[in-house]
Amino acid sequence: MIRKASLKDVKKIHALISEQAKGGHLLARAITDLYSQIRDFSVAVDGNTGEIVGCGALRVIWEDLAEVRSVAVQGDFQGRGIGCKLVEALMEESFEMRIRKVFVLTYRVSFFSRLGFALMDKNLLPHKIWADCVKCPKFPECDEVAMIKEATNQKD
Ligand SMILES: CC(C)(COP(=O)(O)OP(=O)(O)OC[C@H]1O[C@@H](n2cnc3c(N)ncnc32)[C@H](O)[C@@H]1OP(=O)(O)O)[C@@H](O)C(=O)NCCC(=O)NCCS
Repeated sequence: MIRKASLKDVKKIHALISEQAKGGHLLARAITDLYSQIRDFSVAVDGNTGEIVGCGALRVIWEDLAEVRSVAVQGDFQGRGIGCKLVEALMEESFEMRIRKVFVLTYRVSFFSRLGFALMDKNLLPHKIWADCVKCPKFPECDEVAMIKEATNQKD
C-alpha cells in the first residue's frame, strides 16, 4: 500500500534513505530536512506487518516543474514492483497539482525509463535546483543523470 507520510514515519524514512545512501545510490538526507519536508513524502507499507518498506518524495521546484527524489526501497523488498508503485503515486500527485514536468537525478536509468522518463541535459534544469546540490558531498562533480517526464494529459 502506498500512502502519504506522516511525522511518525520520519525516523524510518531517514533509516531507509541512509541505508541506500551508504551504497552511494542516492543522496543522504538530514533528519531535520525530512521533518520540514515530510509533506513531500509518500511511503510504501507492507500489508502484513504494517512496516514501512519504501519511500519517495515529490518536491515542487517551479511553476511547472517538480522533482522526484529520495526514492528508496528496503533491500529485501526490492524487485517486487514497490519502487514503480511509489514513483507512479508521486506522478499521480504531480498530475493532481497540474505540474507539467517532473525530473529526477539518478543512477537508475533503466528503472526510470520504464516509468516514462527520458534522458535530458542536466544543465537545462533551473538554477534553483543547485541550492540543494551544494549540500551534496559529490558537488560539483555530480555524476547522476537527469531524466524528465512531461505530462501529456493535463486537464488545463
Ligand atoms: C531504485 C529502487 C527505488 C527501485 O525499487 P524496487 O522496488 O526494486 O523497484 P521495482 O521492483 O519497481 O523495479 C525494479 C526492477 O525490478 C523489476 N520488477 C518490478 N516488479 C517485479 C516483480 N514483481 N518481479 C520481478 N521483477 C520485478 C522491474 O522491471 C525493475 O527492473 P529495472 O530496474 O531493470 O527497470 C531501489 O532499487 C532502491 O531503493 N535503490 C537505491 C536508491 C535509488 O537508486 N533510488 C533512485 C534514485 S531517486
